Amino acid sequence: MSHVYLDHNATTPLDERVLSAMLPFLREHYGNASSRHEFGTQARRAVEVAREQVAALVGAVPAQVVFTSGGTEANNAFIKGAAGMLQPAQMVISALEHPCVAKPAAELVRAGWKLRKFATDGDGRVNAADAAAALAGPAGVVSVMLANNETGVIQDVAVLGEQARAAGAWMHTDAVQALGKIAIDFTELNVHAMTLSAHKIYGPKGVGALVLDKRIELRPLLSGGGHEQGMRSGTENVAGIVGFGVACEIAASRQHELAPRLAALRERFERGLDSLDATVFGAAAPRIPNTSYFALDGIDGETLVVELDKAGFAVASGAACSSASTEPSATLLAMGVAPDRARGAVRLSVGAATTSEEIDAFLQALAKTAGRLRQLTAMAV
Ligand SMILES: Cc1ncc(COP(=O)(O)O)c(C=O)c1O
Repeated sequence: MSHVYLDHNATTPLDERVLSAMLPFLREHYGNASSRHEFGTQARRAVEVAREQVAALVGAVPAQVVFTSGGTEANNAFIKGAAGMLQPAQMVISALEHPCVAKPAAELVRAGWKLRKFATDGDGRVNAADAAAALAGPAGVVSVMLANNETGVIQDVAVLGEQARAAGAWMHTDAVQALGKIAIDFTELNVHAMTLSAHKIYGPKGVGALVLDKRIELRPLLSGGGHEQGMRSGTENVAGIVGFGVACEIAASRQHELAPRLAALRERFERGLDSLDATVFGAAAPRIPNTSYFALDGIDGETLVVELDKAGFAVASGAACSSASTEPSATLLAMGVAPDRARGAVRLSVGAATTSEEIDAFLQALAKTAGRLRQLTAMAV
């Protein structure tokens, strides 16, 4: 078995059908979507088809879709764009947000905003009572992710959105990790804005979207030629946008079949963990079907990931996006996990091409590696 990829929350392989749809827009259909001639109109048509495909996957209307360079930009566009339009008030986020929400939110404190964080329970869910109390302050902006990139835990964004709206706040959700894994309906979520990214759903890297209820107005992050209805200037990444659209269409067509298949693989894995003295974080909460975040008693997560890589298996420790740092996961600390236990965290995230044979082989490698590492630790003490 060649190297096995079990890190789909970090990124996914490009679907062949997505690549085929993109290639003509990197070769012969190279027009600028703003040009008035045939080359331009061809590119424009393709961008507008993609807008429809993205909107359809999340129950939005095409005019609500603003294409960006990815999830990071869309999150920044909302947080900074909202702050650019409102008087400094309260910014409420969960303690679990990805750094591309948490950092721009923290930066606003210098501009006079008051930052509050929703507490979470031991399973990684925002505590509804705490949320109500946090929202009792002056209205402002609220951002809570739909599914967490580490634990996979799903938040009750519809309820939080209702509370936020009742308090007069603007509500945003980062749905990057939920897209393509669970059904998403922009209207039912009670949000004003939602972030998406293509590369987590077998699309290309460097393209995403902010889905925006146009009844709120954001100050654009990038100004210039007025692309994307003035919301995001810059010549459109036509091939990337086309790829994102096709990836959304594929996701919509196979979601009903894919989600149970991923859930069965995850269940197979977690059953196998039973004999390994493991903790699964967030296991009691609703989770996206492909993610398992676990720790083996007495074993460091970083070490385990390196050893598993040598054995031919790609998984992540802590948050993939910050795996250069050795700090324990902020998500786990917010869930009340002790730092020592949090340092053991390893994330497995399966994808459309993962097989049960790969899961079984991974479990075997895990048992073998864990046994060896435990022996080494025993010898060292
Ligand atoms: C929850 C979440 N939000 C945002 C992002 C950033 O998206 P992008 O890589 O498209 O900038 C990620 C990527 O890891 C993520 O997991």
